[in-house]
Amino acid sequence: MKNIYSNIFKVNNKNLYTAVKYLKKNELVAVPTETVYGLAGNAYSDKSIKKIFDLKKRPRKNPLIIHYNNRKNLEKDVEINKKFLRLYKYFCPGPLTFILKKRRSSKISKIATSNLNTVAVRFPKNRTIKGILKKVKFPLAIPSANKSSGISPVSAKDVNDEFGKKIKIILDGGRCRIGLESTVLDLTKKLNILRPGIISSGEIKKAIKLNPSFSKNQKIIRSPGLIKKHYSPGIPMKLNQKSAKSNCAFIILGKKYKKEKNTFNLSRNANLNEAARNLYKILREIKKKKYKKIYVVRIPNRGIGIAINDRLKHAAS
Ligand code: TXA
Ligand code: MG
Repeated sequence: MKNIYSNIFKVNNKNLYTAVKYLKKNELVAVPTETVYGLAGNAYSDKSIKKIFDLKKRPRKNPLIIHYNNRKNLEKDVEINKKFLRLYKYFCPGPLTFILKKRRSSKISKIATSNLNTVAVRFPKNRTIKGILKKVKFPLAIPSANKSSGISPVSAKDVNDEFGKKIKIILDGGRCRIGLESTVLDLTKKLNILRPGIISSGEIKKAIKLNPSFSKNQKIIRSPGLIKKHYSPGIPMKLNQKSAKSNCAFIILGKKYKKEKNTFNLSRNANLNEAARNLYKILREIKKKKYKKIYVVRIPNRGIGIAINDRLKHAAS
């Protein structure tokens, strides 16, 4: 059978090598991570970074996360502190992003950090992206591989749906294990969660013996990227619903609701990790089926449920 996705490549040594070659030439490559698929480019190259912003149609004031293989080469670019070291030991590699102070001598593209004096850094765990980071001599800027304000991709095919042939290489690492973007934690001021994720404030507190705050005030743009409309399927959504109108999509959780043509179950066992993993896949499916409206049941606001509700709120606004 002819492969209609000529830009999707399975992960093997040859294709990893090709991806690395592209990145060294300041081209972009789509990569799997444990959270969502990302669009990777050389963080030290303005040329690569401009390509990322252009392809995603991302506002230049929304900075990118810089990904490293480990903390060995990190201190050239950012100032680390005790809290960071403790959290790094606990959670890295993994789905946690740190905001740290940028060094003046840092080679990270100023476009990547939107001219801020802080940098978001992350150490992904997925072995494909780790393999690539090990082979290149620079860190990678990797935003989610979707058009700005849309739904993050959780499979190679999702990335292809977003950008088609505009991306030459999409490495296929299968479905993302977590399915929601990393927790973003500000370490430059008061410990503050800017974006909730699978690593919860409770786990952070346990690791560091300090309680992170989570600003609920939507008027403050906590993270430049947390502009209200985000993670959006582009369809009106109603949250915390008990039922849905007959021709609308209905996102449900658990066995309480009857399975029907228009129901989409995040997790039959009401498992919130499974629900997180299915959320973006289901939103994309509903969009493809051209529903005009989405109803969503109430999602328990605990553990990763907090992150699910955060994404739903943004998607619905
Ligand atoms: O799980 C993830 O973090 C994925 C994978 C690919 O690693 N990446 C991701 O990147 O979600 P992106 O660009 O879609 O989201 C980055 C978020 C945005 O909300 C951005 O505003 C915020 O991080 N951010 C980046 N630099 C920042 C900074 N210096 N201060 C505050 N927020 C920052
Ligand atoms: Mg994103």
